[in-house]
Amino acid sequence: MVGIGLIGTGYWGKNHARNWREMLNEGIIDKLVFCDINEIRVKELAGGDVSYTTDYKSLLSDEDIHAVDIVTPSNTHSPLGRDAILAGKDVFVEKPMTMSTFEAQALVKLAEEKKKILMPGHLFRYHPGVSKVRDMIKEGEFGRIYYLYTNRMAYSTPRRDMGVMYALGVHELDLYCYLLGVDYPNQAKITRGTFLQPNIEEFASILMEFDNNISGYAIESWISPFDKKMRNLTIVGSKKSVKVDYMKHNEIYVFDGVIESKEEDNGMIPVVSEGEVKTLAIPEKEPLKEELCDFVRSIKSRKQPVSDMHSGLRAVEMVEKCLKDGFFRPEYISP
Ligand SMILES: NC(=O)c1ccc[n+]([C@@H]2O[C@H](COP(=O)([O-])OP(=O)(O)OC[C@H]3O[C@@H](n4cnc5c(N)ncnc54)[C@H](O)[C@@H]3O)[C@@H](O)[C@H]2O)c1
Repeated sequence: MVGIGLIGTGYWGKNHARNWREMLNEGIIDKLVFCDINEIRVKELAGGDVSYTTDYKSLLSDEDIHAVDIVTPSNTHSPLGRDAILAGKDVFVEKPMTMSTFEAQALVKLAEEKKKILMPGHLFRYHPGVSKVRDMIKEGEFGRIYYLYTNRMAYSTPRRDMGVMYALGVHELDLYCYLLGVDYPNQAKITRGTFLQPNIEEFASILMEFDNNISGYAIESWISPFDKKMRNLTIVGSKKSVKVDYMKHNEIYVFDGVIESKEEDNGMIPVVSEGEVKTLAIPEKEPLKEELCDFVRSIKSRKQPVSDMHSGLRAVEMVEKCLKDGFFRPEYISP
C-alpha cells in the first residue's frame, strides 16, 4: 500500500497531479491527496475523485499517507521537507532540493538518521533521450567525448523567487556529472546577467571542465526573443555525435561523421569526415512519470532512486558557490 500526498498544485504541481492521478488509476499507488494553501486551485484540480486539503500538516498526520511530493516554491522545500521526514514520511522534493547548501546538508542528514527516502526532482535524468545517451556513453559509442552543450532558452516572464541558475542551470550541473559518471566537474564557472530584478539573473552561461579534456557548456535564459522555448543537449564525440531535443520524448538525432586527428610527417592533422544525421526512434516515455514511478519504487524497495539526495545536495552546492564566487571547485566543499 502506497499513499501519496502532493503538496503544491501550481504551475508545475498540476503536471505532478496529472501523473499521480494516472498512477492511482493504474494501481501503482493506492491513495492520493492533493494539498495547496490556495483552496480554489486545489479544489478545482482535485475534481470529484481526489480528496484535498489546504493544510499540509493534515497529510503528515494521516497514517495512510506514506510519502509526500513537494512542489511548492523553492524556499519552502527545506521546512516542508523537514516536517515531512520528522512525521515519518518519505519525501520527493522538486529541484532545487533547497535554496542553500546548509539546508540541503541538514535535510540529507535528517533523512539518513530517520532512514527516509529523500529524492530531488532532477527530471532530465529520466528523459528517454538522456537514458539512451547514457547507455551509448557506457558502451563507448561516442569514441572520445569532446564536449557537451545545452541551450535552455525561453521567452517568458522571469520567475520572481529565483534566477536561472537555481531554476534551470541546476539541471545541467547535475546532468553532465550524471552522464559522465562523476560527482562534480573539476571546475564550473559562470557568467550571468541580471537585468530586470535585483539579484535574480535572467541569463547565465555555464562552463564545466571534466577529466580527459571534456568540457560542458550551457546557456540558460528566460529572455531569448528568438527561441520561444528551446531545450536541447548535444554531445560531440570522435566517432559519433548526438542531439537530444528535450521537447521530444520519442527520438534523438545521431551524426555518424568521424572527428579525429591523424599523425603525419608534419604533425597531427585534423580529419573531419562527411556524415549523415539520422533520426533514431526511442521508446516514448514521459520523464515526469518515469521520475515519480522511480520514487514509488524507492518507497517500496528502500533502495536509492536514480535521482538521489546526495546528487540534490551536490547540485545546490554548485549553484550556490557559482552564484557567490562565479566558480565552483570540488575542493572548496567542506567534508
Ligand atoms: N523539474 C522541473 O522541470 C520543474 C519545472 C517547474 C518548476 N519546478 C519546481 O517546482 C516548484 C514549484 O514551482 P511552480 O512554478 O509550480 O510554482 P507555483 O508558484 O506556480 O506553485 C506553487 C504552489 O505551491 C502552493 N504552496 C505554497 N506554499 C504552500 C504550503 N505551505 N502548503 C501547500 N501549498 C503551498 C502555492 O499556493 C502554489 O499553488 C519550484 O521549486 C520549481 O523550481 C520544477
